[in-house]
Amino acid sequence: MIKLSARTRVSELMAGPPALYTTLKSTGLFRDGDDPEVMLGQLCWAFGFNPGILLMMLEGANVPEVVAPVDAAPFRAMPLGELVDHIESTHHAYLRAELPRLAASVDALALEAGATESTIELRDAVRRMATELDAHIRHEEESLFAMVRDLAASTAIKPTRCGGTVGGPIACMENEHTETLRGLAKLRELTGSYAVAADASTAWREAMAALEHFDRDMQEHIFKENDVLFPRALEAQRGQPQAASA
Ligand SMILES: [Fe+2]
Ligand SMILES: [Fe+2]
Repeated sequence: MIKLSARTRVSELMAGPPALYTTLKSTGLFRDGDDPEVMLGQLCWAFGFNPGILLMMLEGANVPEVVAPVDAAPFRAMPLGELVDHIESTHHAYLRAELPRLAASVDALALEAGATESTIELRDAVRRMATELDAHIRHEEESLFAMVRDLAASTAIKPTRCGGTVGGPIACMENEHTETLRGLAKLRELTGSYAVAADASTAWREAMAALEHFDRDMQEHIFKENDVLFPRALEAQRGQPQAASA
């Protein structure tokens, strides 16, 4: 992720997530071989394009790359029903147990003598993520996972508050995953990637280790959903009986 503004040069943008440059080229404002030292604002001005719109389009692509944190093959081979059981019993159960502990540990760091502004920011960021993730996994289980279990059992999807097809909740979940990945990037920024100074307190060491574990688990969790579960659920829905009308 990089900081984007009208003064960002194309060369700087090219150093960010690859989707940024692809998005820029899709606007037709810039082509391979053009001067990469041009600023985004200058490009917009030259084409009479609203820079606010360009920046909005680019922000959508300004997310950290998810490098496959786990071998996807076993999860691609697993029956769909088992895959959602696995995600629930592994990653959702982990979050339910760990989120309150993480929130308590960063609360304690913020109360330590000499706590800095960034420790307070860290506490607020973790609290926010804990609340959002708690709602996210509940929503996922009640809507998408319930639909996937219907698909796995080859029965018509029972409509939930998110409609009667998996596409609706998937779009919603993907947006929330993007927010979570941004949140994780913020945690890394605030902690210097969970760095521990030689004289750090035990509470600090334990909190950094727990946050690093949380970051890794979350990336694995999101990867299994975005890259394995969601495409498989969309595929399974094709040719299945339609939802009974409510
Ligand atoms: Fe999940
Ligand atoms: Fe999720």
